Amino acid sequence: MAHAGENIKLVLAKPFHPCEGLDRAKDLILVTAGLRLVPYDRDYLDRSWEWLSDPQTRALTLTPAFRREDQQAFFERLPGRTDYLIWGVEHDGRPVGAAGLKQVAAPKAEYWGYLGDKSLWGRKLGPVLLALVEEQARERGLTDLFLRVARDNERAIRLYLRTGWADAGDDGEVLHMTKTLAP
Ligand SMILES: CC(C)(COP(=O)(O)OP(=O)(O)OC[C@H]1O[C@@H](n2cnc3c(N)ncnc32)[C@H](O)[C@@H]1OP(=O)(O)O)[C@@H](O)C(=O)NCCC(=O)NCCS
Repeated sequence: MAHAGENIKLVLAKPFHPCEGLDRAKDLILVTAGLRLVPYDRDYLDRSWEWLSDPQTRALTLTPAFRREDQQAFFERLPGRTDYLIWGVEHDGRPVGAAGLKQVAAPKAEYWGYLGDKSLWGRKLGPVLLALVEEQARERGLTDLFLRVARDNERAIRLYLRTGWADAGDDGEVLHMTKTLAP
């Protein structure tokens, strides 16, 4: 839901042609409510370190233990990688999380994403974040998405089921889900 003062942007499922008019309500898929993807720079790297130092966020995102120097090395390798896409997530101009696509091998890719700012959890930004990353995937021909989510991450699982992801089995405590994007 949008809040007072937030930047509202309409996102269309298909390119809009002015001559077609504005009656294609079925193509109107979401209101981004101030959320956008931005380049993942050193500021996001530092913030990610803080966000993922939180034990709850680390567990919910299935993040293994890592050292600061591992994170620096990961960041420095990013420009040369074609199998990994990463964005900072901004809300009303403020850094609040990170998201991306990994194991990229067209048409497949693994979605991941989180809001590091816990005050935003449960405010229905999840569907917007997913739609923004899915749009990036679609633009690159990445239409067969998959993800991993902790079985006890009730909020994330509800989000994925509500946005068209299907249960693809589990691996103990980790649930696998898939989604095929329309081209
Ligand atoms: C997962 C995440 C992106 C979801 O975004 P969000 O904006 O918080 O999610 P929403 O507000 O859309 O809530 C999703 C669903 O969970 C429900 N929900 C909200 N809080 C909940 C809670 N504490 N427990 C259970 N369900 C909850 C919502 O009602 C909604 O279900 P509904 O659509 O049936 O009403 C975000 O919470 C997050 O980053 N969490 C921490 C990291 C994480 O879990 N990342 C995903 C790893 S796979």
